[in-house]
Amino acid sequence: MGRGLRKGLTNYGDAGFSLFLRKAFIKAMGYSDDALDRPIVGITNTYSDYNPCHGNVPALIEAAKRGVMLAGAMPMAFPTISIHESFAHPTSMFLRNLMAMDTEEMIRAQPMDAVIVIGGCDKTLPAQIMAAASVDLPTVVIPVGPMVVGHHKGEVLGACTDCRRLWGAHRAGTIDEAEIETINGRLAPSVGTCMVMGTASTMACMIEAMGLSLPMSATIPAPHAERIRLAEASGRRAAELAVAGGPRPSEIMTPRAFRNAQVVMQAIGGSTNGLIHLTAMANRVAARVDLDAFDAVGREVPVLVDLKPSGDHYMEHFHHAGGVPKLLRELADLIDLDAPSVAGGTLRDVVAGAEEVPGQTVIRSPDHPIKPIGAMAVLRGNLAPRGAVIKHSAATPGLLSHTGRAVVFDSLADLAARVDDPDLDVAADDVLVLRNAGPKGAPGMPEAGYLPIPKKLARQGVKDMVRVSDARMSGTAFGTIVLHVTPESAVGGPLALVRTGDRIRLDVPARRIDLLVEEDELAARAAALPEAARPDWAARGYARLFHDTVTQADEGCDFDFMLREPPPAA
Ligand code: FES
Ligand code: MG
Repeated sequence: MGRGLRKGLTNYGDAGFSLFLRKAFIKAMGYSDDALDRPIVGITNTYSDYNPCHGNVPALIEAAKRGVMLAGAMPMAFPTISIHESFAHPTSMFLRNLMAMDTEEMIRAQPMDAVIVIGGCDKTLPAQIMAAASVDLPTVVIPVGPMVVGHHKGEVLGACTDCRRLWGAHRAGTIDEAEIETINGRLAPSVGTCMVMGTASTMACMIEAMGLSLPMSATIPAPHAERIRLAEASGRRAAELAVAGGPRPSEIMTPRAFRNAQVVMQAIGGSTNGLIHLTAMANRVAARVDLDAFDAVGREVPVLVDLKPSGDHYMEHFHHAGGVPKLLRELADLIDLDAPSVAGGTLRDVVAGAEEVPGQTVIRSPDHPIKPIGAMAVLRGNLAPRGAVIKHSAATPGLLSHTGRAVVFDSLADLAARVDDPDLDVAADDVLVLRNAGPKGAPGMPEAGYLPIPKKLARQGVKDMVRVSDARMSGTAFGTIVLHVTPESAVGGPLALVRTGDRIRLDVPARRIDLLVEEDELAARAAALPEAARPDWAARGYARLFHDTVTQADEGCDFDFMLREPPPAA
């Protein structure tokens, strides 16, 4: 039995009076003693007029509350920060750790025996799980679900892979002003998260595969009645956890669950951002995500899900083909099916309940994969001593082994000022380099890694070039793009040493990214770098905390003091 309203009472020597006060205040909302005497399930409310992805949150909260009450417990919704990709300046990543802190402390501060976190837009689920893992209170995750698809001139459209593709066509002059306006109204036709395999979908699929949410929770479209029923079922389940006192996140977020998540990330052609978030989540429970182990997973796991940007379909098609449970069945040889699920039982039970859909082609079998190896690879070399990442499933095969001349942009502002300059000295086989776009550099590691093809080359029909940066990239983007170069240039990483005209060699089969400049010369350039000083934007407040304590991409970009140390080796 949970402790309900008694939990976390401030005790100034008289616990009875503290409870008396707490009840006196909460009764102002009209609650009865019967309601207040039950185990409590807290429910995060991330509804915001600035977050259209979370537009269905009120309906999900209402359904979750119904589920909690049908199971005899007491639901209490409370607000936390909400973050939408397009409305978070300077970047949503800058705010992820703030949301994680806010969510963690509000779960800790208020009386609840279990918590339901409802999120979806890219950074929200990672933030909520980082929080829940740190508190280690029984937690059920309800993703808000993906948008349904849009249609334009007989073509199916999705945010935001097609946003990029069609905007690219507009830049190249093949789509005029009037048509691009029409398309603008059709790319996001409902509430919910981007319906391609972007970061939101990647996180929802990994979270389901880790057993943190109920089966099918990643894929049911946001506006569907089925999602409301899922929220009700999640509410019931959370009430059971509140009474039983578990399982807790630490019992679910085990090393095998993290490995399962990595298998799924490779098999779905997931977003590179998922790797940073998974690393941050693991660090909150003293598990660790090792980049080389992740790369090794990618060498044995095929891409099986045919979704944009690596494939052709959208999340609702994945759902109707059987969703994550069916994918786990196809991956059964590569997944640890004994991992527990918050639904009760293990992934073996989840797989047993998977639906077989005759004739579906969205979820392939390992015998007929989309790609025989995983979506992502980890690169190392003198340009990225602590690693870089490439989503090669969404790259141009002919560019995966490529040596070219570097064309360097020193910052986002420099990129914006020069990339479309008709006089820019650039050719299709050059390597575009962007620096000062990492966790501390930009700040907040913007999704700027998808450098635009210089307009004069785009007009000649160039669709892809090798691009290298310490930035991130939206999971909805595509191209031969090397990301998360670590350490970042702002802390003196080798990216800071590249000059226009140097040669860079990308060799994805060998997992290498190298700057072909003599070591002596690189040492001389390093010695000439200016001393790192705290920049003006980080003078005070949260920005200062962020600048001074954010870790690099290989450590999950969490604050360095949030890490949970692994238990000492026996
Ligand atoms: Fe919210 Fe894409 S903008 S998930
Ligand atoms: Mg995104």
